[in-house]
Formats: sequence, structure tokens, C-alpha cells
Amino acid sequence: MAEPTLDALLHESRRFEPPADLAAAANAQPALYDAGSVNRIAFWEEQARWLWWDQPWTTPLVWDPPYAQWFVGGRLNACVNAVDRHVVAGFGDKVAFHWVADAEATTRTITYGELQREVCKAANGLLSLGVEAGDRVAVYMPMIPETIFTILACARIGAPHNVVFCGFSADALRGRILDADARVVVTTDAQMRRGKSTPVKPAVDEAVAQCPDVRTVVVVRRTGEDVSWTEGRDVWWHDVVDTQLDTHQPEAFDAEHPLFMMYTSGTTARPKGILHTTGGYLTQVAATHRYVFDLKPDRDVYWCAADIGWITGHSYIVYGPLCNGATSLLYEGTPHPEDQDRWWKLIEKYKVTILYTAPTTIRTLMKWGHEILEPYDLSSLRVLGSVGEPINPEAWVWYRTYVGGGRTPVVDTWWQTETGAIMITPLPGVTATKPGAAMTPFPGISADVVDNDGKPVPDGGGGFLVLTEPWPSMLRGIWGDDTRYRETYWSRFDNVYFAGDGAKKDEDGDIWLLGRVDDVMNISGHRISTTEVEHALVGHPAVAEAAVVGATDPTTGQAIVAFVTPRGNVAEDESKGDAFVQALRAQVAKEIGPIAKPRQILVTPELPKTRSGKIMRRLLRDIAENRELGDVTTLLDPTVTDMIRTNLSESGGAGGDEA
Ligand code: WT7
Repeated sequence: MAEPTLDALLHESRRFEPPADLAAAANAQPALYDAGSVNRIAFWEEQARWLWWDQPWTTPLVWDPPYAQWFVGGRLNACVNAVDRHVVAGFGDKVAFHWVADAEATTRTITYGELQREVCKAANGLLSLGVEAGDRVAVYMPMIPETIFTILACARIGAPHNVVFCGFSADALRGRILDADARVVVTTDAQMRRGKSTPVKPAVDEAVAQCPDVRTVVVVRRTGEDVSWTEGRDVWWHDVVDTQLDTHQPEAFDAEHPLFMMYTSGTTARPKGILHTTGGYLTQVAATHRYVFDLKPDRDVYWCAADIGWITGHSYIVYGPLCNGATSLLYEGTPHPEDQDRWWKLIEKYKVTILYTAPTTIRTLMKWGHEILEPYDLSSLRVLGSVGEPINPEAWVWYRTYVGGGRTPVVDTWWQTETGAIMITPLPGVTATKPGAAMTPFPGISADVVDNDGKPVPDGGGGFLVLTEPWPSMLRGIWGDDTRYRETYWSRFDNVYFAGDGAKKDEDGDIWLLGRVDDVMNISGHRISTTEVEHALVGHPAVAEAAVVGATDPTTGQAIVAFVTPRGNVAEDESKGDAFVQALRAQVAKEIGPIAKPRQILVTPELPKTRSGKIMRRLLRDIAENRELGDVTTLLDPTVTDMIRTNLSESGGAGGDEA
């Protein structure tokens, strides 16, 4: 029988039933949903019992909206749960990570036993630098084993880590160090990118120059790059850590002890420090990792291709998989055009069974063509995951058909930095999936789609996604800004969490995510606020005003399009030139990072405004996406939009380069 074409699969509007063998043996059986709905709290207590507690909790949940405390009275150590317990259980020789350097230049296999020794040395090293429980440690590091050692060492001594993605600029790093008031920063000399050493430490030097309270910068030698050195502040990892004892007696911390903070973009120019604590977070990341990916620690090789610098890396490279005793692949590189078959080589070589990645990556691989995969044996794969943005049905079906050989379930997992762990997702052995739908809340999670007044919409209706009950891994607040915590998530509707996403319920009541409803853009699964980019642009002395919108992009999901009006004193030919646009893009890269560089910048003498002076972003979005303009009746000067359109066509729709 001929294979059905991708097109046919897509338009058949079918559901994909879980494979029978998987369904029979899956960690998650249909009864899990019953357990979650009969008694939500008891369900989560059951999940929490998978962890090692030094002292059991007395009360599972104290909910004083919008503040939750889970497993109150319980004490545990996150690092012991991720590492030591597996060694104690006799799995010291089991591989925790197969680390593969960029372009496979080197590899390193790290067993749980070795991980324990490395983490103890790192913990002793941090202690020797005077780091105490409760102190924040900033981490600005690429995808190397030392990054994981640092994170776990922080957890072990109760020092909340604040990992900043290495693609952020010095300015962005400085803001996060200052806001978290971190006194110690851990970094590297450089990182490997596309086979080349790219400096990392200069950004730290620049950031820390204006952080008077940072007393120590610990530097891992990754590539041997020359670095400038500040005596008395900078220390080498190999001097501070490698000289330490490889044992350390861990202490148990309160279930609500802060584990880490992770900064994410909101609707203002200032990122928010999302705070996560210990017991509830670990409970939910471990449970979701076990059930959503059907993890079998004795046979799976799991690969989450995210970066540790984002929440996905925290929850599904570090804490979830390690708490479950998984064997993971940790790959330093990212897919790029000169290296199109690297992923498939790695999957074949390491016999990867579970792959977790983002729609933007799937679309990139899809663009390169399925012929690239054909020479490789990918039959080890049995579950495929997607996260970060809505996955279009074409990419979903391509993923399942070509990467998954038409056999594997695809789990589209919706969650956020704030939720800490997966919230809405199919379960691979249970759910009949629909391409493009995140389907149903995880057992024990209560979500709904509501209208403007907060009333649940009927099946077939659309509205705002809300979470209606507290969940164990929920954020505990925004670092240093309680008002913003209440306003951002809890003021739109009474006592329910407002996620900021649009969603619909289909005729079966299954949930489809439709993208953000606020001023947050999603670029390749990275969250960037329009205000943040506008703020960066007006920081340029020649810019009077800037408006930024997210426009649909076939690969990155959304792309940043900026409209900029130059100051009156800037000569017209100067502001028209390519050099000006390049200077503006550089300005954004400096303030935020290369990931936030606009795909397109339009220089225009005026922006479309309402009579009350508000910039009409909706119109700009229409222009950026080349659509017919919507309602323009409130527009102050209708000729402005024509003018922008003309400029747009003259600029030839000049695209941006890669992030
Ligand atoms: C926002 C959260 C969760 C880790 C990565 C991003 C969007 C995330 C999905 C999905 C549709 C999704 C939402 C959400 N998003 N996953 N499966 N389907 N949208 O974390 O940076 O905190 O961003 O990403 O818009 O609100 P984040």
C-alpha cells in the first residue's frame, strides 16, 4: 500500500491513536486522570511521595490566593533528589549525561556517581567563596557539564541560582544580576558555536563593572580563549572547584525554600524574576517528566534540545530527568545550515528514544527536507515532544511522519516559565492526539478557557486561557515586586491565574493554544516583549519614537518588525541609509541580545496614532503582515499608513539575519 502523503494525513482531520504496545505498558494509564480529578490534592501528594523527603509535610497545600504553599512542613534537598538518591540506590554507574560538544568535537560521559562527586566539589567550592543558603548566584554559561554542576551545587547548599541565557547581552545580564542582587557570578571564558570559539567573559566583565556588590566571578576554562582578568575578583573554576573534596554533607531545606529564579519578559521593559521553590516544583517536574514522556529510566535515552538558560532546560534537562534517574543526551550545539544532519547522526549514535524540542526547530529541519533524515536509523525514537509556541499542524504531522517514522506519539506541551512544569498536554499512552492541539490539562491540573467576563466558554468557543486551581510548581512570586505579581496574573479575573494566552476549546472540549494576547512576542520560542525592544530602540540618540509588533513568520513563528521615527535633527539621507538600520539593530543586540534583533526596521517620519495619541499597533501589524488594513476610523492622519506602506515596499522587505 502506498504511503499516505503529508497533505493527505493533514487533511484527513484524523486523530492519532496511541500505539497499542505503548498504551499497554505506559507509565500513565487512563486511571491517572481519575486520580487527578477525584482528589487533586491527594493526587499531588501521591506524586510528591516519589521524592526523598528528610521530613514529611504536615499540610499538602495552604492556599491564600494568590499565594500558595505546597507540602508545608516538609524538608528535602533538591540535589539529593536529583543525584545522591540514585547513587545510594545502586545506580552510581548509570549514565546521567552523554555530553556532546558542538560539532561532536569531544564527548564526555557522566555517571550519577561522577555527577555526585563533581557537584560536591562545586558545592564545596561555592562554600569556600562564602556563598550561604539564601544567597543568589548568577550563572551565565553555555551547554557544558559545569553548568549543570553549578546549578546542582547551588541547590545543594540552598543558594538560589539565577541562570541567564548566554545569548543575552551584557546590559541584560547586568539588569538581572542587580535585580537578583547576586554577589557571585559563574561563567566561562568562551563558548563553542558552529565549531568556533565565541567569547563569553567580556560580557560578564562589562556587566559586572557596574555591579559594585559582585565580589567573585568564577570562570570555567571552556575553549582556552584569552580573557582579561580582574585580580581579587576573578577566580578560575579549576583553582576553586577542582581542588575541593568530592564529598559534601547535604542539609535539608524547607519545601518552600527558594530553588531558583528565572527572568522572563513581561509587558513592560523590565524583565520579571520568576521565583520557584523546592518541594512543589520538584514534585511536578518529576511527575510530568515521568508521564508525559513515558520515561523508563532503565531503557530510555532522553534528549531535550533546549538550552539550560531557559525554563525548559531547568525543568526538563536538569531537575525532571535527574529526579527520575534518566540517561540524557546533552548537546552543546544548535542546528545550522552547514550541519544539517547532525541531529539525526546523534539520535542514531546514542539511540535516543525521546526527543523534546520546539516548533521553530521542527520547521527549520522541515525546510531542509526529510531527505536529510533518510540515511539514518531513527527507529529508537518512541515519543516526540514539542514546546514553546503553538505548533502548526503541518510541522506536527511532519515531525510524527518523518522523525517518528509514523509510529511515535507527538506530545504538544503547553506551559510557561511561571508554571514551572508542563500543564496542558496529551499523555502518550492514553490520548488520541490531534495535530496542533495541546489537548487536555495534565491530571491534577485545572485549566479553562474564559470570555472577557471570566465565564467559561462552551465547547467550540474561544477566549483566554486561565488556570483555576493552584498547582505545585507554580511561581511563588516575582522577585522583589509583589504588586506586579498580583497585577500581572491575578487581577484580570478573580482568583484565577491569567496566562496571557488565547485559546479555544474544540467541539470535544480539547484545548488549542492560539498565541499571546498581550504585548509579548514569541520569537523561535523565546519570549520578548514589544516594550522591551521599543525601549532599546529609543535608547538610540537618533530615534524619536519606536513601535514594535510581532509579525507571523514561517520559521520563527513570529518575527520582530519595528517602526522607527527619527529625531527632527537627523538628516533624511542619514536616517534612510542601511547604516542607520544596522546601527539600530546593533543597539537592540546590545541592550537585550542578538535574539531580539528586529527582522525588519522601517524608518518612517510618522507613526499611525489615534486622536488620543495612542499608537495603533493593530494597523502596524496589518502592515507588517501585508494585510488589508482593518478599521481606520479612529486614525488621526490616514495618509500615514500609505506613507509607511510605500517605505515598506521600497525597503524591499529586507529580512534580518539569524539571531
Ligand atoms: C509562552 C511561555 C514553556 C517553556 C518554553 C517557553 C507559549 C509555550 C506552548 C505550546 C502554544 C506555547 C505560550 C506561553 N507556549 N508552549 N505548547 N503551545 N504556546 O516558556 O518563555 O515562559 O513562554 O510560550 O504563549 O505563554 P516561556
